Amino acid sequence: MSATAIFVIALIGGGILVAAGIFAVAWRRGPSAAPMVGEFDKEAAKRDVSARPILEPEATATEEAPAEAMPAEPVPASIEDQREAVTADDLGVTRRMFLNRAALGLFGFGFLGSLGIAMLAFMWPKLKGGFGSKINAGPLAALRSQVVPGDGSIKPLFFPEAQAWLVPMEQSLLPGSSFEGLPVVAGADGGETGLMALWQKCVHLGCRVPECASSQGFECPCHGSKYNFHGEYDSGPAPRNLDRFALEEDSQGNLIIDTGSVVETPRAVVKTIAYPQGPSCL
Ligand code: FES
Repeated sequence: MSATAIFVIALIGGGILVAAGIFAVAWRRGPSAAPMVGEFDKEAAKRDVSARPILEPEATATEEAPAEAMPAEPVPASIEDQREAVTADDLGVTRRMFLNRAALGLFGFGFLGSLGIAMLAFMWPKLKGGFGSKINAGPLAALRSQVVPGDGSIKPLFFPEAQAWLVPMEQSLLPGSSFEGLPVVAGADGGETGLMALWQKCVHLGCRVPECASSQGFECPCHGSKYNFHGEYDSGPAPRNLDRFALEEDSQGNLIIDTGSVVETPRAVVKTIAYPQGPSCL
């Protein structure tokens, strides 16, 4: 996956998380449906100046009301006495409740967001033409000249975008082989050397299988499975030949590797090429 694709996916994921957070905050700010009653704690009550009694202005002693007849100075009730029950409407949502619900909401939406991102990432290659879709590997003739340089040597070419080794295959070798009638060879018409695209993944447990130039094959470093350069099974725990992708040649002569179409073939009974042709790499 390209850096741009990763950036876009991260951007979408971040947007989903932010939107989820905003939604959770907005949602949790509403009044709770659960009945709630409570009291302010002492500190809150002390600071609640609106609850303090408003003292009447001190009555002035007049001739009609002598000082000794003036009403007694009102004594403010203690803060404890001023406590009064708070209903759900008065209290709304406490800060702790708000934080708890916001955290739960964020985790929930974060999980859903991650799931969405994972699904998007899974689908992305098919949408953008990466691995899992048809990949244009370029002019088939040019690829052929790299794989079969013309000096008698064979040079498997690794094509990273398709996770595949491009190897040669002659049309004359196909009848009776494991690949007869399968759409796994392209460019072999007219007597030319065709190409096959072997998936680099070992069919035993999925390790990446490197080329071994000296033995002219592929040798898995994990458990020692060996294949010739047509990807035919030779030895080791692998249950079948290396898997390969369906191929076609488009009207402009480009090799199209369909990495969404994996072709499995059984262990070759009759191999199309001898192996090993030199010392093993393992
Ligand atoms: S993964 Fe290749 S032989 Fe086991």
